[in-house]
Amino acid sequence: MIGGLSLKGPLCLAPMAGVTTLAVREFFATHGASLTHTEMISCAGLVRDNAKTFDMLRVSEREEAVIVQLFGNDDALIVRGGEVVLRESERFSAFGVNMACPMPKITRNGSGSALMRKPELAARMVKGLKGLGLPVWVKIRKFENDTETLRFIELLAEAGADNVCVHGRTPAQRYEGVADRRIIAEAAGRFPGLVGASGDVRTVGDIDEYLSYGCAVVMLARGGVADPFLFEEYGGLFRSQEERLTELLNFSRRAEELSGEHRALVLLKRFAGSVLRCVHGSAELRRQAMTAKSTQELRDILRGSSGLMRRD
Ligand SMILES: Cc1cc2nc3c(=O)[nH]c(=O)nc-3n(C[C@H](O)[C@H](O)[C@H](O)COP(=O)(O)O)c2cc1C
Repeated sequence: MIGGLSLKGPLCLAPMAGVTTLAVREFFATHGASLTHTEMISCAGLVRDNAKTFDMLRVSEREEAVIVQLFGNDDALIVRGGEVVLRESERFSAFGVNMACPMPKITRNGSGSALMRKPELAARMVKGLKGLGLPVWVKIRKFENDTETLRFIELLAEAGADNVCVHGRTPAQRYEGVADRRIIAEAAGRFPGLVGASGDVRTVGDIDEYLSYGCAVVMLARGGVADPFLFEEYGGLFRSQEERLTELLNFSRRAEELSGEHRALVLLKRFAGSVLRCVHGSAELRRQAMTAKSTQELRDILRGSSGLMRRD
């Protein structure tokens, strides 16, 4: 049991807006992730019956545990959003609350990491969502000051949060600089079984290190885009370059089926580098991949790269 859920293991796919769409989550769920996260979903959009927002609630039958990550600036709104989710789908294992996003278009309205400055409101959100019956996972960033970080986690735990994932960068750092592991280690020691880790998870060693601190879960984000097979490697499955290529081509067809050509092309471009960096002339191939106009063109570039794979 982790964070109120029965999970196969501690490795999770982190929420990533524009990335953790249905096809990407399905890929990771079948390649080593014990749990996936939707992109952050606007409670205002859910309450307003916005069709695009509703589309983000689709779940694949191949996903076992999925968290629907919500964002909003008010406790009543987040609870109404949660109610809409429960009315529309029985597939979610837990609610996630985004208290981490530092981007101005989210914080300007008092959502995302702006909630770190409103601890009482943050706690009311957790309490309200808990009342709907699913576990609640909260994602935060570290504060400048360790005491404040620990106090905020404690408050969320007291409000009933089942998991608090800490991204070891402050909101002001956005995605720059090195994530602070020390505060995550301290929080994991202080709150056993509660704390998840996020930030600079790029290698098997990074996963091991976070788990050695006692973190309940480790979240893969940009490291998963750079190496979509990292979780499998952690489990001891090492795929050849040819296999990786085949898996990626399968992913691109599935993404097209689930989200249409345009969306599939955008996603495939994000993941193409993971295969192309291992071939001779990778810089030029990557340039071609980034300017491809269709998934077919990009698949042809990827297939063409298979004869160029480095054997060294
Ligand atoms: C493109 C992108 C989109 C993201 N969207 C979200 C989001 O919707 N919700 C959230 O809680 N975190 C989001 N994050 C933050 C990640 O979940 C993660 O905490 C962060 O990238 C740190 O991990 P990393 O250094 O291993 O990438 C996003 C990150 C990226 C790169």
